Amino acid sequence: MKVFHLSVECFPVAKVGGLADVVGALPKYQTKMGIDAKVVMPWYNKPFVNENEFEVVFDGFIHQIHHMYQVLVMKEKHNVLGYELYLVKIPGLLDRDQVYGYFDESQQFIAFQHAVLHWLSAMEIRPDVLHCHDYHTGLVPFMVEYCQDFDFLKGVKTIGTIHNGEYQGTMDWQMSNYMPRFDAWKWGLLDWNGRINPLATMIKCCHEFTAVSQGYMHELFEDAQGLQDLIRQEHRKAHGIINGIDTEVWNPMTDIMLNDHYSRENFEEGKEKNKKWLCEEYGLNPELPLFAFIGRFAGEKGADMLPDIVRRSISETEGALNILILGSGNPQIENTLKQLQEEFHVNFAMDLGYKEALSHKIYAGADFLLMPSRVEPCGLNQMYAMRYGTIPIVRYTGGLKDTVTDISSGGYGLNYTFPGTDDAVHAIKRALYLYDDKEEMQNLRKTIMNLDFSWQKSAENYVNLYRKK
Ligand code: ADP
Ligand code: GLC
Repeated sequence: MKVFHLSVECFPVAKVGGLADVVGALPKYQTKMGIDAKVVMPWYNKPFVNENEFEVVFDGFIHQIHHMYQVLVMKEKHNVLGYELYLVKIPGLLDRDQVYGYFDESQQFIAFQHAVLHWLSAMEIRPDVLHCHDYHTGLVPFMVEYCQDFDFLKGVKTIGTIHNGEYQGTMDWQMSNYMPRFDAWKWGLLDWNGRINPLATMIKCCHEFTAVSQGYMHELFEDAQGLQDLIRQEHRKAHGIINGIDTEVWNPMTDIMLNDHYSRENFEEGKEKNKKWLCEEYGLNPELPLFAFIGRFAGEKGADMLPDIVRRSISETEGALNILILGSGNPQIENTLKQLQEEFHVNFAMDLGYKEALSHKIYAGADFLLMPSRVEPCGLNQMYAMRYGTIPIVRYTGGLKDTVTDISSGGYGLNYTFPGTDDAVHAIKRALYLYDDKEEMQNLRKTIMNLDFSWQKSAENYVNLYRKK
């Protein structure tokens, strides 16, 4: 079975968040299951991509309005990721330094989807499945069926995965001029409330669609930023499949980004050393429990609550804990946190930016990981944390519901229900009691490090969907 994953992120080539981790790992596990899984993504400039590692396998062109764009499909030569990786380069459109944030983003994503289907049709490559990740590739199920130029691909099974329904990629109708020619009487499939909505189009036109956890899929039936009626209408195609983690990359025994390694059986000393390193690096006292946050400073992640959480949890416990934050995003949150760092420098430190290696060190060195998310379709951080023996403190939502059960219900983490500072601080105080019980902490660490969050089961669930008649 030949499956093409279409995505704008894939670890380690280009990563902004969890989408990259999923698209980087799932095909690897599917390949091990005997599926011929490949990834196709846009080309990005260095440092993401080293041109020497790629060979051109297709050279053609597409038209957008009156402009002709060259399309180069480059294949990674050595299969280093454990599956075939293809990058689509379109000089002038898909040859940028970053994944997101360009003024012509809608045009870029349309061109990417157009170019992929053009390449496959022209080379007469007919996959069994086109697996589209998020709205950036959400027009593909429509294009396959209703664009005359891709008749060769008509009927190919399309699967759409919603990693984040908050982002739908809506655009003005005039952007339809940038699309490859399509059956005009099918325009309604592109429309949602008077705009082109690629996520809605994906849901309408794909054969099956998934959300990245069952908890999140249930939530989407109630509230999907305006798409809930559509999701209810298409409920027969809807499935919740929880993400896994790449246990080869995320292994405290072998992780090349850690200074000190440790195993699931013997972790105390190794974890201690990682914590000590972090505390020295950030001027914190290693005797105190260390709470960490890693992530985008966005409303979904509850990042706007971080300043209050920091201030209150340090003041209300009289400095009985340390907090370390790694992230970036909303400038206002960044500035408030910077000010807090001056005020609370004994107990609080932060590092701004995207730092992959540091994130691994934090998962390993922290005692607790905070996830005050308002919305969390799956969340990978809590699973990485647990794999590294760090106890997650999460707001009970989306994928966090499916992966973290509270210790009071026989589970192994701390949950709270309301997305406010009060409940977050309360959970932190509960964690402090737990921290004082050394034996319980050790048992809990052992339990979470032995949980199985690998891709095995979920990769199979996707393959069952691919095979579904
Ligand atoms: P999302 O994709 O919504 O941001 P996920 O929990 O699915 O959330 O995945 C986030 C991924 O990005 C994890 O691998 C996490 O470690 C990583 N990450 C987030 N922020 C940073 C950062 N500032 N530096 C390094 N890694 C980060
Ligand atoms: C999105 C979601 C996150 C999820 C990730 C991978 O970025 O916000 O919760 O883990 O996709 O599916």
